[in-house]
Amino acid sequence: MQQHPFTFSVSVPEETLSVFDKHIVRRLSAMQGQYLDTQAFKTMLSQDPVLYEVYEINRPELAGELMNGITIVHPGKIGEEYFMTKGHFHNLLATAEVYYCLKGDGMMVMETPEGEWAVEELHPASVLYVPPRWAHRSVNTNPHDDLLMFFVYPANAGHDYGTIEQHGFHQLVLERNGHPQIVENPRWRQQER
Ligand code: F6R
Ligand code: ZN
Repeated sequence: MQQHPFTFSVSVPEETLSVFDKHIVRRLSAMQGQYLDTQAFKTMLSQDPVLYEVYEINRPELAGELMNGITIVHPGKIGEEYFMTKGHFHNLLATAEVYYCLKGDGMMVMETPEGEWAVEELHPASVLYVPPRWAHRSVNTNPHDDLLMFFVYPANAGHDYGTIEQHGFHQLVLERNGHPQIVENPRWRQQER
């Protein structure tokens, strides 16, 4: 593990990191129960498209260290709903994250365990600060191009995917009349407290 300062580059047109340790490829089959249109989900499952990819620089999962890398969400829809990431709370709930959008257009859907929600648009040069306690999911709303973001978060944050898998996000981003629309998720369930 590199303990000396180091530099790397994110190449925007090629969507590559010059240094990385991990490459995650997430397909539709990993998103069971997350898309509203279950019929469209089933139909698309035969192709099992790649929805998004993550390239990450690994750091020790210790307080004081920072994980960082890029997320690429590909364009596409399942029914009316755009390709998106699974979304998660951080295991260490009180940890924040910063996203820097380098390419494409999208939205970050966010919510707290108490059910407060927010959706922020992402365009090239947008910097998004996700405060501690906010679950987050990236959605690519551009039908023609990848959404490319650089992210940084505390290396000891950890990921809780289960809560979102069970409860969903409060808001969905659907394409209606050719435009992204934020709509209430009819299947969202408030977390028991
Ligand atoms: C890390 C983070 C991002 C996501 C990535 C993929 O805390 O928020 O690096 O991990 O955008 O999304 P998920 O992890 O929700 O599949
Ligand atoms: Zn995160």
